[in-house]
Order: sequence, then C-alpha cells, then structure tokens
Amino acid sequence: MNQVLNAQNLTRYYSVSRGAFKEAAVLKAVDGASFTLERGKTLAVVGESGCGKSTLARLVTMIELPTSGTLNIAGQNIVGATRKTLRTLRPKVQIVFQNPYGSLNPRQKIGAILEEPLLVNTKAPKTERQEKARAMMKSVGLRPEHYDRYPHMFSGGQRQRIAIARALMLDPEILVLDEPVSALDISIQAQVLNLLADLQEKHNLAYLFISHDLSVVRHIADELMVMYLGRVVEQGTRDTVFSNPQHPYTKALLSATPTPDPVRKRERIVLKGELPSPLAPPPGCTFHPRCPVAFEPCNRLNPALLAHDNSLVACHAVNPPTSTSKAA
Ligand SMILES: Nc1ncnc2c1ncn2[C@@H]1O[C@H](COP(=O)(O)OP(=O)(O)OP(=O)(O)O)[C@@H](O)[C@H]1O
Ligand code: SF4
Ligand SMILES: [Mg+2]
Repeated sequence: MNQVLNAQNLTRYYSVSRGAFKEAAVLKAVDGASFTLERGKTLAVVGESGCGKSTLARLVTMIELPTSGTLNIAGQNIVGATRKTLRTLRPKVQIVFQNPYGSLNPRQKIGAILEEPLLVNTKAPKTERQEKARAMMKSVGLRPEHYDRYPHMFSGGQRQRIAIARALMLDPEILVLDEPVSALDISIQAQVLNLLADLQEKHNLAYLFISHDLSVVRHIADELMVMYLGRVVEQGTRDTVFSNPQHPYTKALLSATPTPDPVRKRERIVLKGELPSPLAPPPGCTFHPRCPVAFEPCNRLNPALLAHDNSLVACHAVNPPTSTSKAA
C-alpha cells in the first residue's frame, strides 16, 4: 500500500489566557484538515504566517496530539494509542526545521549528531552507527572529513544537509519539512530542493513540505493544500492548483509568485488589510475582509470545502451556498 498517513478532520485548538478575570479564548490553529501522505509523493502546505502550518507539522510528527479528528500513521490511529505504540511510530516520522543553526547541537561533532538517533532508539553497535553515519553523509553530499567537524564550521546549506541526514538515520517513512529552505540563499535553495527530490526517490519517502512561498513548492509538490487562519481553503494536485486556482486567496498568493513563462505574466492581486487575529477571526468566511470578490453571504456563512473542477475549494463564489450552508 502506498498510503502511509491518513488524517481526517484533524484539529488542534489552543486555550489562550486573556488575563485573570477573563475566560480563556480558543485559538483554532488547525481546524479540520483531511489529507493523505503517500510513499514517494509530496504534499505541500502553503499559507501566510500563523495559518497553522507548524501546528500541522507538530501533529503529524506526534509532538502534540490533535484536539479531535483521526490521524492514522502506518495503519494505526495515534489518537488514544498507548505510549508503546507511539514509541514505535515516532521513528517513522522525522522532521527538518527551517533553522539549521538552532536545530543542531553546537557542541557535538557531525558524526555524533548523526549517530545520536541510533544510540537512543536502537541497539546498533558503535561500528554500525559510524558506518551508517558515514554512508548518510555521502548520500547528502557531505565529505568524509566533515565527520569530525562542528556545526559552526559549515555554511547554512551544508547545515541543512546535516539536518536532513540526521532525519534519515532511523529510516523514516515520512519526512516533515517545515520551511526547510526559507533561511537559505536562492541559489542554495535549489541545491537543497534537488537533494530532497533525489532522497525522496532513493528512499521512497512521503514528504509533508511546508512553505509560505508557492514558488518554492512548484517543483517539489505533487499535491497542494492552501491554508488560511487554520482552515484548508483549497486542496488539489499541483498541476490543477497552479494552472487553474479557484480560491481568491490562492489566486492572490499565485499572483505574487514569479511565473516560469515570461509571456504569460499574471496580474498581481494585492490583498487589502492585515491578516486578522486568529483569536478573533472574522465571522462567515474568515477571508471576507480581504477578499476582492466577497459578496452578500460571505460575512455570515462559513463556506465548506467542496469539490470543484478536480480540486476542493472553500468559497461561496466557487460553490454557491445552499440552504444547508452553516452560519458561523
Ligand atoms: N502552543 C500554542 N499556544 C497557543 N497558540 C499557539 C501555540 N502554537 C501555535 N499557536 C498559534 O496557532 C496559530 C498557528 O501557528 P503556527 O505556528 O502553526 O503557524 P505557521 O503557519 O507555522 O506560521 P509561520 O509561517 O509564522 O511559521 C498562530 O496563531 C499561533 O500563534
Ligand atoms: S467565500 Fe466569499 S469572502 Fe470567502 S473567498 Fe469566497 S468569495 Fe471571498
Ligand atoms: Mg511555522
């Protein structure tokens, strides 16, 4: 079976204190996301800061448990799973963060950094750990002499290679990449993206690739999920979403992305207003105060994510509301 993860209606709410005499507010960081991850394929999650991307990453990596919904990893629902089950599932999902400076222990040499996951999670003897670390260094493009060096002796791109190598040491099935190239120079970004594509093919990995930038995911994504204030507003294959975006938010994000075809330039759609506070999201469609095509029901009816032209779209202009649409 190619499917390694299945999430249905995944939600993560946070209770946020508003001071001593006020009731805590509920912040809906992820509000009902459904998706699958498959071997050898990449699901990209895109959206502005604070839309819930890293929260989704923490759910998928089991760093946090969902408030509701189901999350099946390798055929097991992690909601209500025993500690023992979680312990066996955790090595299957590894994460690479945006900042390779912060995620590597500055006092450890590269060899020790790579061997640590094996030391903690397996009974592999020292020689086996060293062999695996050296082989992994080679497969991410690091040289043998790097084994005895410290993280500060490397450039940003090389440090990200080290973080990727470490994430692969336990032979995971899923790699969560949370803005993995956002801190790197453009020229280095392309090298790291190429490396990720090669490693995906070699190890048949499923990727959950998180980015605020659609141009970064254009080449690596198979499927795309666009999020706004915790909700999925458009979901579909990369080709469909890039060639025929439906949701006004996706259109605006895409209009700010350089096109590979200089003749077919897109007209830039500038969104009005700021991103609203997630603690007080607007009623109805949460995008309505910024939406260039908002109309009458948008400020009172919350659009459901519904099928349209091979994609799923949450927008009244795309899927007109019916008498069963929910007020929110
Ligand atoms: N532990 C927490 N307690 C309360 N609120 C939280 C917590 N973690 C995240 N949030 C809130 O949840 C929302 C989503 O945050 P998240 O970090 O997932 O966004 P993001 O899309 O990764 O943003 P960025 O692009 O800036 O990394 C934000 O409003 C954030 O403030
Ligand atoms: S539902 Fe209305 S406000 Fe929301 S994106 Fe669609 S048209 Fe815009
Ligand atoms: Mg984030």
